[in-house]
Amino acid sequence: MKRHSFISGVGYNVPKKIMKNEELSNFMDTSDEWITERSGIKERRVVDRQEECGVGPAELSIPAVESALDRASLNKEDIDLIIFSTAMPDYFLPGSGCLLQEKMGFPLIGSLDIRVQCAGFVYGLSVADQFIKSGTYDNVLLVCSEVQSTTIDYSNRGRDVAVLFGDGAGAVVVSATNEDRGILSHHLHSEGKFAKELWIETPSAQMYPRLTQKMVEDGRHHLKMNGREVFKQAVKRFPEVILECMDHNNIAADDIDLFLPHQANIRINKMVQEKLGLRDNQVFNNIHKYGNTTSATIPILLGEAYERGRIKKGDLILMAAFGSGFTWGASLMRW
Ligand code: ACO
Repeated sequence: MKRHSFISGVGYNVPKKIMKNEELSNFMDTSDEWITERSGIKERRVVDRQEECGVGPAELSIPAVESALDRASLNKEDIDLIIFSTAMPDYFLPGSGCLLQEKMGFPLIGSLDIRVQCAGFVYGLSVADQFIKSGTYDNVLLVCSEVQSTTIDYSNRGRDVAVLFGDGAGAVVVSATNEDRGILSHHLHSEGKFAKELWIETPSAQMYPRLTQKMVEDGRHHLKMNGREVFKQAVKRFPEVILECMDHNNIAADDIDLFLPHQANIRINKMVQEKLGLRDNQVFNNIHKYGNTTSATIPILLGEAYERGRIKKGDLILMAAFGSGFTWGASLMRW
């Protein structure tokens, strides 16, 4: 019998602290109107620097992992491998997956950090899928967690980026099944010529020392983005990779029960929806509440869709993401 991999449990966790658009206008020249009109974002979650000082992506992900394990009816001892996706690791090294292994007391299983930014969930799912389908492992934990608020320049200089990003974590357990369901295909791409259009330059292994006071004063340790170029490439690459996925699986837009797009900008998602001819009830967005949580976006979206009963067994679910690198990809699964 053919071995398939499916998502047996999903969970998410966002920090308690809500930062509304109005609050941002206390630190920089911006307004709720500008942010809402350009991005669709009304608020985002951020780790509270006083109350949750020291919380990085590994710590933030713990409730998400607990919930995913619970929904999969599995224990930590059942997990064979941790894949940890983060664009903002706790440390340059070691990886956040190792920190999670220790914090949650997982057995001495492998933990693999991946760094593909917003596309982290789609890439991570493809890796988990290979380990399951090959028969190497039965249950792989995929964690996507981002604490981005510590890299944001909350001054006028950084306002174009500051308003878009939030903190959050999502996790899924990917398990083996002989049922005819689960992950159908992955389509992964990258184009490094755009690396500096969305990047954090320092600390960098290209420099000695990797970080100086001058670099900090110049703001070279903050996330920087050429928003117009990112937008232009995103609206081109999303439909392209989705059509590649639909062609590969021989399906039409009408066959998709739910599309979970990366949440970077509601205008990007509306343009993609229109290009593909998807109805409103086929697409799920939550950007207004969380902003862009990079690789955590899709598992948070999946978790919310699951809790709201938007997903039922047998549904065809499409997921697609685009981000820094540039990296992008799409996955299709039968729930
Ligand atoms: N508040 C008010 N005004 C602002 C702000 C702000 N927060 N930020 C920029 N502006 C100003 C600009 O300075 C500019 O002023 P000017 O015309 O006097 O020069 C004006 O607003 C318009 O700026 P644009 O960049 O043209 O605005 P645009 O309509 O392109 O929207 C945005 C900007 C929202 C950033 C958009 O380009 C975008 O969403 N890009 C894609 C973002 C994205 O997909 N990111 C993916 C991240 S993925 C990852 O991997 C991390």
